[in-house]
Amino acid sequence: MSEQKRDSWGSKLGLILAMAGNAIGLGNFWRFPYQAAKYGGGAFMVPYFIALIFLGIPLMFVEWGLGKTGGMYGHGTLGPMVYLQAREKAKPRNALIFGMLAGALAFSVVVLVNSYYNQIIGWTLGYSWLSLTGGYKDAAKSTVDVFLDYIGSPVNMIFWIISLAALAFAVMRGIQKGIEAWAKVMMPLIYVFGFILIGRTLTLGTPVNPDWSPIKGLEFIWTPRWADLNWAAALAAAGQIFFTLSLGMGIIANYASYLKRDDDIIVSGFTTVALNEFAEVILGGTIAIPIAYTFLGKEGVGAGVGLSFIALPNIFRTMVGGQLFGAFWFLLLFFAGFTSSIAMFNYLTSLLEEDLKIDRKKGAWIVFGLYILVGLPVGIEPTLIRGSTAYLDSVDFWVGNIYLIVLGLIEVVVMGWLYRDKGLQLINRGSYWKLSKGFYRIFIQVLTPLIILVFLIGFITQQKFDALFSSPWATAGQIVVLAVLVIGLVMSYKSIKDKYGREISENRIIVVKE
Ligand code: PHE
Repeated sequence: MSEQKRDSWGSKLGLILAMAGNAIGLGNFWRFPYQAAKYGGGAFMVPYFIALIFLGIPLMFVEWGLGKTGGMYGHGTLGPMVYLQAREKAKPRNALIFGMLAGALAFSVVVLVNSYYNQIIGWTLGYSWLSLTGGYKDAAKSTVDVFLDYIGSPVNMIFWIISLAALAFAVMRGIQKGIEAWAKVMMPLIYVFGFILIGRTLTLGTPVNPDWSPIKGLEFIWTPRWADLNWAAALAAAGQIFFTLSLGMGIIANYASYLKRDDDIIVSGFTTVALNEFAEVILGGTIAIPIAYTFLGKEGVGAGVGLSFIALPNIFRTMVGGQLFGAFWFLLLFFAGFTSSIAMFNYLTSLLEEDLKIDRKKGAWIVFGLYILVGLPVGIEPTLIRGSTAYLDSVDFWVGNIYLIVLGLIEVVVMGWLYRDKGLQLINRGSYWKLSKGFYRIFIQVLTPLIILVFLIGFITQQKFDALFSSPWATAGQIVVLAVLVIGLVMSYKSIKDKYGREISENRIIVVKE
């Protein structure tokens, strides 16, 4: 096996900002507020924090550990990482199956989640422009129509292509000069825009109704309402934890593969979670919901997916300074989305680099082409059928929900039960704080996998599978999901077989670098 020199992070600060950028995304500012609102505000926050502690934090350590294992052997993708850990207790031939499955799921998620995620990033860039130029100010046209016209017009896809080109340009330059450099600029700006927007939000007063104020909006989220607690809210909350922390998709592990052997995992992993949660519940929670509550009352915060792109523009167009604050809001969304999308982009670029020996510069533009291809149906559907996103929903059903959970389960079971105590040593190596054996046994080996399993079963039994074939666009989405999964299986088979072929045919461990 050839020993190539791997890129690595330039500084601790750069690593943390890049990891925080990976986690902090549209999930924090666009998805969290409407999920929290939809599932009853305070009723949602109770299971949310439970899921954070029992699923989010342990899985974050697991993914960093997987990445470190991969990095030591020169791999940035999940297939070989999971293989390496699984072969400890399962024989190489069985470990190959775990690796293939994990690799294929991660591949599907980074290809297909980004196929629509990039489109939404394009909308945020387009809406930043519209905000600044007063593009949705005309009160004669409802913001619903503004939005439907926007996504219905093919010209606007230019914002999507510009965003993708910027991503390719950043990834092309590598870990330190590309990803880390961009994160160092964009991440602080997210917090700056966030604080400016919070300042504006909290001084809105009661312009519409004396009972509607920003503080009332905060009370709505922050008053735990145990009585409203239900199964659907719990499932949504756990799903949100996976989504927002970028877990179960391989991209945290990919970033962690650029760590050095003795780099700390616990403090850094924990800081990533803390920065993400601050951005989500403090920044994300103190902007969209209180603004919507102030102008539209309790009904208004339930605007669903349209909260960011329909309800808020409606407010920005009447509020003092709305043009500028609107631009800040959409730029914040853009930077948040960009620094997450770049992680998915890098996953595929490193896959091409390692498995097909395509150099990074060329690889980044191949990935650009791939994302144009897989993003086209998402972009085209609403230009043909007004407001229709059946293709997107049908793809998201698997890759934005079920795949993340299944992959998270594989990761934690492989580390806890096949890699066993080596996983604990790996996480603790070089770490300033140490995980205790008790934590490892109780959380990583028992509680986390068990809760994910319960959650997965609950989630699947709640779904309506017939919607997946309800229109030709939805059916097309299912075909694409299946095709990408098959490609992912073949690619991860090849990736593991190329590196560990001898080991697998002799069915015993040969390559050891720990
Ligand atoms: N965690 C990021 C977010 O909150 C990135 C992410 C992208 C997560 C795509 C899931 C899917 O947006």
